[in-house]
Amino acid sequence: PVHSARAGSALRPAVVAHRGASAVAPENTLEAVDRAASLGTLWVENDVQRTRDGELVVVHDDSLRRTTDVEEVFPGRAPWRVKDFTAAEIARLDAGSWFGPDYAGVRVPTLTQYVDRVDRNHQKLLLEIKNPEIYPGIEQEVLKLLGDEGWLDERHLANRLIVQSFSADCLQTVHQLVPAVRIGLLGMPALSDLPRFSVFADQINPSYHALSQAYVAAVHELTGPHGRPMKVFTWTVDDAATARAVAGYGVDGVITDRPDVVRRALYWY
Ligand code: G3P
Ligand code: CA
Repeated sequence: PVHSARAGSALRPAVVAHRGASAVAPENTLEAVDRAASLGTLWVENDVQRTRDGELVVVHDDSLRRTTDVEEVFPGRAPWRVKDFTAAEIARLDAGSWFGPDYAGVRVPTLTQYVDRVDRNHQKLLLEIKNPEIYPGIEQEVLKLLGDEGWLDERHLANRLIVQSFSADCLQTVHQLVPAVRIGLLGMPALSDLPRFSVFADQINPSYHALSQAYVAAVHELTGPHGRPMKVFTWTVDDAATARAVAGYGVDGVITDRPDVVRRALYWY
């Protein structure tokens, strides 16, 4: 059969490894990036926060407790918030054993280490600024690091980097600082609010739970800040049936802990 492309949507959605290939390796680690690469996944998603001494690190929760051995290493430091630890302290933590013994000793990566690995693997990056309200000025720091590492070069901006957040304020700041950066707004705003978000957001990234073909079509009707139809990347889709359903809605990206499962569901090659 011949497929016809819909305006503003990919014929087949991009597959994005959520926190890396986080079903098969500890989330937000270099190992999860490499596993995504070995499964043929072009895009990886990660979560960025800031240490007490200003290092940008890749970790999802605002506390280190769930994904490291911080409770054992620093027993008196509850609630073990990322912002209360130095980069040197976080570098001592084991971020792999909670996931499985094969990953003992895996570290929390700095953002610099993380983007270097993504680059070395020839992958693309969907970078989430997590909890920006806890980290005043983090937008500028993320952009500075990305610039220093070459990620703001013209050839990367259009097709290799998306910065996303649940915070529209954070994203507006990113857009004001470096207008060329592609931006994704997490969540599912009311249709009536989409035009004002289209001023700075290239895409809307909702959970798949309430998503519909009509919503995706409404997003595609809008033009983003870089003159292209707005896109939709949806999360977190971990089974074949849901992957096929959201692909049928016309989404442009599928964010998944199981890129192997989603790829198999959507691509025959
Ligand atoms: O990329 C979408 C997704 O990462 C947003 O939710 O909690 O996994 O960061 P969360
Ligand atoms: Ca995330």
